[in-house]
Amino acid sequence: MQSSLFRGAAFTRPLFSATIPFMKQLYLETFGCQMNVADSDRMELLLFQDGYRRTPHRESADVVLINTCAIREKAEQKVFSLFGQLKPIKLKNPDVVLGLTGCLAQQEQDSLLKKMPFLDFILGPDAIESVPDAVEKARQARRPLIDIDFDREKKYSIPALDGPRTTGPVAFVNIIKGCDKFCSFCVVPNTRGREKSRADSEIYEEVRQLVSAGAREIILLGQNVNSYGKVGLDTPLTFHELLRGVADIPGVERLRFTSSHPMDMTRDVIDAYRDLPNLMNHMHLPVQSGSDAVLYRMRRHHTVENYIDLIDELKQEVPGIAMTTDLIVGFPGETESDFEETLTLMRRIGFHNSYMFAYSPRPFTPATEYEDSVEHEVKQERLQRVIRLQEELAKAAGLDFLEREVEVLVESASDREGIDYRGRNPEYWNVMIASPDESLEPGDIVKVKINHASGHALRGTWVETINPALHSMIA
Ligand code: SAM
Ligand code: SF4
Ligand code: F3S
Repeated sequence: MQSSLFRGAAFTRPLFSATIPFMKQLYLETFGCQMNVADSDRMELLLFQDGYRRTPHRESADVVLINTCAIREKAEQKVFSLFGQLKPIKLKNPDVVLGLTGCLAQQEQDSLLKKMPFLDFILGPDAIESVPDAVEKARQARRPLIDIDFDREKKYSIPALDGPRTTGPVAFVNIIKGCDKFCSFCVVPNTRGREKSRADSEIYEEVRQLVSAGAREIILLGQNVNSYGKVGLDTPLTFHELLRGVADIPGVERLRFTSSHPMDMTRDVIDAYRDLPNLMNHMHLPVQSGSDAVLYRMRRHHTVENYIDLIDELKQEVPGIAMTTDLIVGFPGETESDFEETLTLMRRIGFHNSYMFAYSPRPFTPATEYEDSVEHEVKQERLQRVIRLQEELAKAAGLDFLEREVEVLVESASDREGIDYRGRNPEYWNVMIASPDESLEPGDIVKVKINHASGHALRGTWVETINPALHSMIA
C-alpha cells in the first residue's frame, strides 16, 4: 500500500496559465511521496519560465526528467525498470536532455551513472532550484553534471515566481524540509538532509497566492511538520503558531498537515484542533509498530503508552477525530507477540486508514546492522493480516457516517456509473457524490447525505451547496 504522502502517478495538471507561447517539450515522471510531487511541481514551474511545456510523450520530449524515490526496494525497482526505456530515447535523439532528480538520485549517483552513462545530469532534492541551469549546461557541454550537495548555511526558501499560478481546490505548501529524526530504518535523513524550516512570511505569501488562484484547502507539507521552527528560522515560531497563522488567512476554508511525528506532538497542537474550525477533523500520526521493543529498535523515541495517551487526549478535545497512521511489519527481531501488539494497538485506536509496509532494508541505515531476521514469507503474511484488520476497522469507521449529512469539498467530476463528483469530508474520506445539480464545480463545499459506506469510500447524495467556489460565484 502506498503512504499517505505517496501519489505515485505522474503529475499532469498545468501549473501556470498558458499565456506564454510554448516552444519546448518537458516530460516529467514522479515517483515517491507528496514531497517529490511538490518538487516536480516546482521544477515544472521553473522550466515553464524558460518556455517548456509539459508533454505526456516521453519519446518526443526535449527534456526528460525522472524524479526518483528510495524509500523501499520496490520504489527503487520501479525507477530501475524505466532505465531500459531511456537509452533508446537518447540513441534516437542525442539532443534530448535526460536528468534524474530526487532521493534515489541523491543516494545512488555513482552507480546510476555507471548504469546510465548517457545521463546528462543528476540533481539531489536540495538542488532542484538549479534545474533550468542544469538543462542549459547539458545543452552546451555534453558532460554529466552532478549536484547532490546540501548547503548547511543556506536558508530554506522557495521564492515566488513571476506569472499567474493555477491550482486545484486542494494545494500543498512546503513548510519544512529534511528530517533530523534518524529512525533506524529510514533513508530520508540521508537523501533529504538536515531539517530546515521555511520562513512563515514566505509560507503565508504562498498560501495567499494559492487562495486567490482558487485553492480552498491547504495541506502543510514536510517529512515532520510538527518539528517546524526548531531549525532555520530567524524569528522563532512554533508549529501550532504557524497553524493559527495559516488558519487566519481569509479564504483558507480547510487546513490539514502531513506528516507528523508523535514525539513532536504537543498540547498546543491539540488546542489548535479544538480552537480552529478550519483545521480538519483528521490527524495522520505514524506509529510504525505497537511493540515497545520494536519502537526502541526503530529509534522512534516514544512508547506505545505515550502514543495512546496522546490520542486519548486528542479524542477528548476533538471527539470524532479520524486517526490514520503508517505501519511497518517484519522489522528485524519482530516476534509474533510483538506483531500481535501492533494488531492490538490498531484495534485500540480504531484507525480509519493505515499505510502498511513490509520492512525493506535500506542502504546506509542503522537497521541494516540488525539481522533481518523476519523471513520474507512471514513479513508478507503479517502484511496481509494488518491489511485485513485495517479493512475491518475502516468498515466499522465508515458505518458511523451512514445516514449523516457531511460536508464535502468537491475536487473533481466523475464519469463513473451513478457518481457525478468526488471529494473529501473533514475526516479525509473519499466521498462519491450523486447529484441532480449538474452545475457543481471543483472547489464547491457541499452537504452530502451518506447512504453507503465501504471500507474505502463513502457514497451519498448532494443535499445543498453551502459554500460555492469563488469562480462559480463570479460566474
Ligand atoms: N516522515 C514521515 C514519518 O515519519 O511518518 C514519513 C516517512 S516515509 C516517507 C513514509 C513511511 O514509509 C514511513 O512512515 C514508514 O512507515 C515507511 N518506511 C520508511 N522506511 C521504510 C523501510 N525501510 N521499510 C518499510 N517501510 C518504510
Ligand atoms: Fe524517516 Fe523517521 Fe524522519 Fe519519518 S521521522 S522521515 S520515518 S527518519
Ligand atoms: Fe519521499 Fe521517497 Fe524521498 S518517500 S522523501 S521521495 S525517499
